[in-house]
Amino acid sequence: MDKLRIEGGRRLKGRVTIGGAKNAALPAMAASLLTDESLTLDGMPDVWDVGTMRRLLLHLGASVSQHSLSDVTLSGASLKSHEAPYKLVKTMRASVLVLGPLLARYGRARVSLPGGCAIGARPIDQHIRALEQLGAKIELAHGFVNAETDGLKGASIRFGRQTVGGTENVMMAACLARGETVLDNCAREPEIVDLAALLTSMGAHIEGAGTSRIRIHGVERLTGAHHEIVADRIETATYAVAGALVGDEIEIDHCRPEHLEPLIDILRKTGTEVVSLPQSLIVRGGTRPIECVDIETAPYPGLATDMQAQLMVLLTQAVGTSKVHETIFENRFMHVAELGRMGASIELDGSRALVYGPSALTGAEVMATDLRASASLVLAGLVATGRTTIDRIYHLDRGYEHIEEKLEALGASIERLVAND
Ligand code: EPZ
Repeated sequence: MDKLRIEGGRRLKGRVTIGGAKNAALPAMAASLLTDESLTLDGMPDVWDVGTMRRLLLHLGASVSQHSLSDVTLSGASLKSHEAPYKLVKTMRASVLVLGPLLARYGRARVSLPGGCAIGARPIDQHIRALEQLGAKIELAHGFVNAETDGLKGASIRFGRQTVGGTENVMMAACLARGETVLDNCAREPEIVDLAALLTSMGAHIEGAGTSRIRIHGVERLTGAHHEIVADRIETATYAVAGALVGDEIEIDHCRPEHLEPLIDILRKTGTEVVSLPQSLIVRGGTRPIECVDIETAPYPGLATDMQAQLMVLLTQAVGTSKVHETIFENRFMHVAELGRMGASIELDGSRALVYGPSALTGAEVMATDLRASASLVLAGLVATGRTTIDRIYHLDRGYEHIEEKLEALGASIERLVAND
C-alpha cells in the first residue's frame, strides 16, 4: 500500500486549482443509466471513486469512453445486468445511486446493501421507503435490495431525515415516473443542484433543487447531454485550511466560494485572512495567533461534516479550548486518536470533542482511516515538526486528486512512497 511522507514546517505559497466535485461526479455518472443517448461529463476529478463507479457502469453493460482525465462520455444504451454486486458496493457506498435510475428505466434493480462503514452505520432506509412510495416493490434478502416495478408513479414524499444520496436517488427515479412527484425535507447540497442541472439538460422537469421541496414532473424519456461538474467544495475547504495553518498566501482557483460560507466564517473567526472572489479564494494564515472557535456540523447550508476533521487540525493550533460537535455521522472522530499520537490534546465525549490548543504537533507514523480523516492527517503533517508518514492512503486517493502534486507545487515537502506489493 502506498504511503505519504511529509516533512513538516514548510510555509506554503502559490496557486492551486480545484477539480470537479467527487460527490457530484458520482450521481452524474449514475444518471447516464437514465438514457440510451450519450452523456458527456467535463471536469471529472481524477480520483479512485470515479474509477469504481466506472467499473460498476461497465459491469452493468454501459459504455464508457474517456477522452481525457477530466472528460468522459457514458451511455446506458444496452445494459446486460441490473445488479450492483457486493464487491463494488462495499468498496464505494455511492454505488447505491444506481438503484433509482435502474428501477426507473428498466423496471428492476438488484443492489447489494452497503452496510456500515468507518464513519457510521449509514442505512439506506430513506431511499427504499421513498422508492416504495413511487410504486416500487422492494424486498431485502441475502444482503441485497431487490426492487421491481411495472412503472413508477409520481407521489408526495417526505424524507424522515435529510439525506444527500436519498434525495439524489429518488430525484433521478422520479424524472421517469408518471405524473408529478413532490419531495419534502430534501437535502440542499450544491451537488444536488448540480445533478438537477444535469437532469434538466437531459430533458427532465425539476423545480426547487437546493431548497427543501423539490417538484419533479415525470417525462417519457431523457436524452443525452453535455455537463460540467461543479467545483469540489470539500477539496477547496481542505486547501483553505492548509492556507490557514501554514500558508503565507494561497490562491485557490476554480472554486465556488458561495458554497463555503460557514467555513469562510470560521476561518475568519480564527484570525485567518480570507478574500472571497467570484471563482477563487485567497487565504493568508500566520499573520496573527490562531483563535479558538466552536464548530458544529449540519446539513447544507450549515458546516459540512466532510470539513470537520480538517478544521479540527486547525483548532489544535488555536489558543484556548474549541468545542466540536459532529451531528451527521455517529463515528466521525477516527482522526482524533491519530492526531493524539502527533501531540494533539483532544477529549472525546460521544458526538462532541474538546480541542485544547495550541499543541506543538510532532511528526509520527499514522494511519488513514477514511477519506476526510486522511486529509486531516496530511494537514497535521504539514504543520508538525519533523517527518510524518501516513499509511493506507488509498482512502485519500478515493477523493483527492493528485494531492501530493498540488501541495508540492505550493511548497510542501511531500512524497508518495509507492508500495511494491
Ligand atoms: C453524502 O453521503 C456524501 N457522499 C458524504 O461524503 C457526506 O459526508 C454526506 O453526504 C453528508 O453530507 C456522497 O455524496 C457520495 P446522507 P450520503 O445520506 O448520501 C443518515 C465524503 O467524505 N441516513 O446525507 O451517504 C446517514 O446515516 C463523504 O466525501 C439514514 O439514516 O449521506 C447519516 O447519518 C463521506 N437513512 C445522515 O443520514 C438513509 O436512508 C446523512 O447521510 C440515508 C441516510
